[in-house]
Amino acid sequence: KHPLIKALALSLTVAAGPAMADELMERANSNFEPIPKYPPVIDGNELTQAKVELGKMLFFEPRLSSSHLISCNTCHNVGLGGDDELPTSIGHGWQKGPRNSPTVFNAVFNAAQFWDGRAADLAEQAKGPVQAGVEMSSTPARVEETLKSMPEYIERFENAFPTSEEPVTFDNMATAIEAYEATLITPDAPFDRYLRGDEDALNDKQKEGLALFMDRGCTACHSGVNLGGQDYYPFGLVSRPGGEILPEGDKGRFAVTETASDEYVFRAAPLRNIELTAPYFHSGAVWSLEEAVAVMGTAQLGTELDDEEVQSIVAFLKSLTGEVPEVTYPQLPPSTAKTPKPVD
Ligand code: HEM
Ligand code: HEM
Repeated sequence: KHPLIKALALSLTVAAGPAMADELMERANSNFEPIPKYPPVIDGNELTQAKVELGKMLFFEPRLSSSHLISCNTCHNVGLGGDDELPTSIGHGWQKGPRNSPTVFNAVFNAAQFWDGRAADLAEQAKGPVQAGVEMSSTPARVEETLKSMPEYIERFENAFPTSEEPVTFDNMATAIEAYEATLITPDAPFDRYLRGDEDALNDKQKEGLALFMDRGCTACHSGVNLGGQDYYPFGLVSRPGGEILPEGDKGRFAVTETASDEYVFRAAPLRNIELTAPYFHSGAVWSLEEAVAVMGTAQLGTELDDEEVQSIVAFLKSLTGEVPEVTYPQLPPSTAKTPKPVD
């Protein structure tokens, strides 16, 4: 062969590797974004240290529940991936709730909260479980009375909300919890490092899975910083899963909008740290990530993914596990004679 052709062929083979990797990285960057290293700015809720610390105490505060047993952390355990590892949550009086608990990690990046998106933001969201009969079973008045009964809380609310005339309120509780939740982000997953240009952050199988995830169309619903959490789709777009996975009684967004086309419509679940948050789906009916991926193939795409494809996608999904925040357990102020007593 002519030496020039040989040299050209050589340079082509050499170039092929990096060029292909770059192409994959480029495509990934057009579909996804890395988790930022620092908490995001929240409109109308400045993350001061006093507020974040108070929010953390409240997140771990079981006396926000009427039984004094259940805190946010019961169902969103920051040592268990930010959820409870149960099919559906257990709340007040051992009652079983209807849905699987989503992780609080990176929830701040979701466009709306809950499987059906019925809460606009984390502050609105936080008022729900405190009052829900099957969760913490309390009332705003009881929460305010409880918090006001402990001098340390009064002082901390004053410091966290220096311009509030009446700092210890149910609304300010929710605002402080939102501020704390904004710090529960998990940067630096291998996938984040890949998006930032580190080609070696993913192994070959994970890259294969990433390519499949985009080629097969998972990205149509799972994209952006949380690979989901932004929009709503029918669960069973192509073929509706059986009642054990998609229970008939839970019609998703239909309950929010009362529009027939919203029956069985749910928020495309965020997939960050998905390996830590089994069991899967709003029903929590599926324990294996492999099975969850296969269900998505048939239900959402009308595709039977073969075992190897499922394995590659799962390998990719495991690259979404980030660095979970190290949390020291907060010391909570002691109850006083004025603190309402726990009730069943
Ligand atoms: C949903 C935070 C208490 C069970 C959520 C979400 C957040 C959150 C941010 C939405 C996440 C997302 O959509 O991605 C909190 C806070 C709590 C609290 C701040 C304390 C004030 C609880 C408790 C339980 C619980 C005590 C269990 C008894 C659930 C469940 C969902 C959920 C089942 C999904 C509900 C649905 O989609 O309808 N929580 N949570 N949470 N939480 Fe909590
Ligand atoms: C949920 C992966 C395609 C919409 C999930 C879950 C996984 C997943 C692992 C469970 C998350 C959890 O329980 O926390 C995938 C993969 C896909 C894919 C690997 C491609 C093969 C799609 C598409 C759509 C979609 C194309 C929209 C048409 C949803 C929805 C949920 C979900 C709505 C929540 C289901 C529920 O209510 O439980 N996805 N997905 N997914 N995905 Fe996908």
